[in-house]
Amino acid sequence: MIVRVRVLGSAAGGGVPQWNCACAQCTRARRQGAGAWRGQDALAVAGSEGWFLVNVSPDVRAQVLATPELAPGPGRRQTPLRGVLLTDAELDHTLGIAALREGSALDVHASPVVLRALTEGFPVRTLLAGYGGLRWHAVLPGQPIRLAAELTATPIALGHKRPRYAAALPAGPEWVLAYRFHDTSTGGVLVYAPGLAEWSPAFDAAVAGADWVILDGTFWRDEELAHSTGERTAATARQMGHLPIGGEHGSLRRLAHHPSVRFCYTHLNNTNPVLDAAGPERAQLTEAGAQLAEDGQLLTL
Ligand code: MLT
Ligand code: MN
Ligand code: ZN
Repeated sequence: MIVRVRVLGSAAGGGVPQWNCACAQCTRARRQGAGAWRGQDALAVAGSEGWFLVNVSPDVRAQVLATPELAPGPGRRQTPLRGVLLTDAELDHTLGIAALREGSALDVHASPVVLRALTEGFPVRTLLAGYGGLRWHAVLPGQPIRLAAELTATPIALGHKRPRYAAALPAGPEWVLAYRFHDTSTGGVLVYAPGLAEWSPAFDAAVAGADWVILDGTFWRDEELAHSTGERTAATARQMGHLPIGGEHGSLRRLAHHPSVRFCYTHLNNTNPVLDAAGPERAQLTEAGAQLAEDGQLLTL
C-alpha cells in the first residue's frame, strides 16, 4: 500500500480569487476561469485504512466532491473518510467542520489549545454536539498519531499565533502545528506546514530527510499587505505568523540546505506576486527548485 496525498486547496483565507476582491491578481484569476482558481488550503492523506483531511476549509464540500478517492459507497453512507487533523484553529482551516455534520463517524485531532478554541471562541464543538459523528482527540507535539498500520502523523509545534477571534485565550506554543507523515512501509515522509512563523531548529529537523515539504507561502515579503492594500498600518507577514518566501531571511533561502527535498508552497494569499506565472518572483522560486502546490495535485510517498 502506498500512502497517497491530495492537495485539496492551496490558497490562504479568502482563496484566489477572493469573493470581494478586485485586485489585479483576483481579477486575472476571475478572467482565467475556474480552472485557475485556488481553494483554501487543505490536504487529504491516505494509507491502507482510509482517508484523513488535514484542515477543513470553508471550501470542503467542493474539495471533497472534486476528489474521486473521497466518493462514498458502496454502502449508502459508507465514506472512505476516517478523520481530520487540524494544524491550528484559524477559520480558514476550521469553518468547514460544520459542513461535516451529516453524522459520519470522524476522529478529529488537534492540540489542546485548538480544541479549547473550538469550544470557547468558535464553538463548533458545542454547536455540533447534538449532531453526532465527530469525536475529538488532543494531540501533542512529538507524539505520533497512528492513521494506519503503516502511516503515522507526528505533530510539530510551530508557533504561538492565535486566531483573531481567540485573542482572549491563553498564549502557548501549540497554537500552530505542522504534521510529519511517515510511511513506515516505504520510508516516505511528507511534512505539511501551512503556517510557518519561523524556520526553527525543530522545523529544520522535521524537514531533514523528507521527500516532500508543503509549506507556508502566504506572502512573498513582510510588508506585502500594507503595500497591496495601501493601508500603512496593515500587519506584517511575520506579525501574522507567516514567514515570507522572499528576501534575505525568507524561507526560499533555506531550501538549498535540503537539496533532496521537494518543496511546494501552499496557503498562497491573493496578494502574493508569486501567483503570477510570468513574474520575477515565480522565476526566483523555480530557480530555487521549488513549486507552488496545485489544487487536485496527487503525491505519493
Ligand atoms: C492566517 O492565516 O493568518 C489567518 O487565517 C488570517 C485570517 O484571519 O484570515
Ligand atoms: Mn490562514
Ligand atoms: Zn485580490
